[in-house]
Amino acid sequence: MKKLVIGNDHVAVDMKNEIKAYLEEKGYEVINVGTDSSERFNYPVSGYKAAKMVASGEVDGGVLICGTGVGISLAANKVHGIRACVCSEPYTAKLSKQHNNTNMIAFGARVIGIETAKMIVDEWLAAEYEGGRHAIRVGEIMEIEETQHLKEADEQ
Ligand code: RB5
Repeated sequence: MKKLVIGNDHVAVDMKNEIKAYLEEKGYEVINVGTDSSERFNYPVSGYKAAKMVASGEVDGGVLICGTGVGISLAANKVHGIRACVCSEPYTAKLSKQHNNTNMIAFGARVIGIETAKMIVDEWLAAEYEGGRHAIRVGEIMEIEETQHLKEADEQ
């Protein structure tokens, strides 16, 4: 992962700027689709824009930040092919990549501090999807997305 997108709403401008600079220092190219203003900005706008760039392959992954990380990740998860995880600590971030093959990570500027946010992005970026038994479950998530059905559940 070398090219990332970052999205945010009006409550997460400062954290977005700090995380963007932090990632750039580490050599990532980071495209900003969030707001840079404290004027009200609806989080689905940047969640959607960032998610479309990840889903199309234009970037390798994405970071989403709003007040809690919830709204912006919910919006992103509505885009086909997106698996965005909101988390408040690095363990979940790491496992979300290893087991769930997340392609976006989200957190809340009103929930965690900047050092935890940095640890979250570090763990998430360093982690590798493990595939194997996890691929069956991630495949089932994609089956629900594609068909609005899940064969294994429908058959029970
Ligand atoms: C904005 O007030 C707030 O609702 C938003 O940043 C986010 O927390 C939504 O999930």
